Amino acid sequence: MRLRFDKTAKEKISQHPTLIRTYERDESENLTAYFARNHPLEVEIGSGKGRFIYTKAQTHPEHDFFGFELFDSAIVKGLNKTIKQPLPNLLWVRADAQYLSRFFDQNSLQTIYLNFSDPWPKARHEKRRLTHPSFLSQYAALLNDEGHVEMKTDNHDLFFYSRDTFLSEGWTLMEESHDLHQTDRPNIMTEFEERFSKTGPIYYLKARRH
Ligand SMILES: C[S@@+](CC[C@H](N)C(=O)[O-])C[C@H]1O[C@@H](n2cnc3c(N)ncnc32)[C@H](O)[C@@H]1O
Repeated sequence: MRLRFDKTAKEKISQHPTLIRTYERDESENLTAYFARNHPLEVEIGSGKGRFIYTKAQTHPEHDFFGFELFDSAIVKGLNKTIKQPLPNLLWVRADAQYLSRFFDQNSLQTIYLNFSDPWPKARHEKRRLTHPSFLSQYAALLNDEGHVEMKTDNHDLFFYSRDTFLSEGWTLMEESHDLHQTDRPNIMTEFEERFSKTGPIYYLKARRH
């Protein structure tokens, strides 16, 4: 599903600095205390058009949320939701998550969500996968004692690559499903999920580092 380039996105984003922060290349800022209250922090990496994290924030006002996304044309769709109905516990962050550990203190995050991450199937692109060991070591440092990663994908190979990597990097699988929609686990459908669950199962795992 290719996203159309939105030439108005950059300007729109620049008009709403209280709803969205943008960081070029390796720029960063510590956002741990952004919401100035000591509530659990949850991050989605690659939030795309934002339905998942927006709905999470709407239904969990007692937690604070960050949606990280690389591209203006995608994140502006999420921004539009918060322009229509602002949420005090959600910040959009247009930034590259390879620098995630510069945005938060160690042991500060409760949950990191990876929903339908780009599979990067070629071996030479393995480092870009959001479950590459270099990403998992950042997540391990950022998550607090009860912290965990939740991952959903329709991509069989990405799922089993990720599963193997979590295990070989010393993580514990807390939950696993090879057909999430056949379980009674509560689920917020992402935009990609709505589209790709028509053609096959959705894989899910929840993992913690200790
Ligand atoms: C396949 S889309 C899935 C979007 C959404 N999670 C969903 O399920 O509908 C993956 C998204 O991850 C974003 N992404 C990939 N690598 C990223 C990175 N290093 N930092 C932030 N976002 C990233 C892409 O720009 C893309 O919008």
